[in-house]
Amino acid sequence: MSVRMSDEDEKKITELIGHYPQKRAAIGDVLYMAQQNFGHLGPEVELYVAGLLDLPVTYVHQVVSFYNMYLQNPVGRNLIMLCDNVSCTLCGASGLVEHLAKKLGIGPGETTKDDKFTLWTVECLGACELAPCVMIGEKLYGRMTPEKLDEALDAVEQTDDA
Ligand code: FES
Repeated sequence: MSVRMSDEDEKKITELIGHYPQKRAAIGDVLYMAQQNFGHLGPEVELYVAGLLDLPVTYVHQVVSFYNMYLQNPVGRNLIMLCDNVSCTLCGASGLVEHLAKKLGIGPGETTKDDKFTLWTVECLGACELAPCVMIGEKLYGRMTPEKLDEALDAVEQTDDA
């Protein structure tokens, strides 16, 4: 089975590619659009994007697998990325993982039974000065504490239930 975006989205991609000197330079934006469309970037989507950009699928896969923001597998509706690199660990990241395990009943790499949350621990979120850092969806939270984490999750649950 092959995947394909709508004609409208493919037109947007053609316009987007026109803004770059080379097709391959649009890969970040095209992968982002593909992820928005398909939820994650599995092998079929990588093949599709490779075709759109005239790139080898191995090149597309290397980009997808390098960056945390590209999802290779399905995740829950809200992805929690918790940094467990040095700065964040020294500032309490382990306690946040334990807190999430108690609150949501999941550990790193797991998804809640209701598919609401997936927890990943990641190498660095690029905001080390704000350690410990957590991203929920596309929002970054710095100087995170268990209490702030509860507030952030409550806010997400309210919009998720809406
Ligand atoms: S070490 Fe945690 S954000 Fe960089």
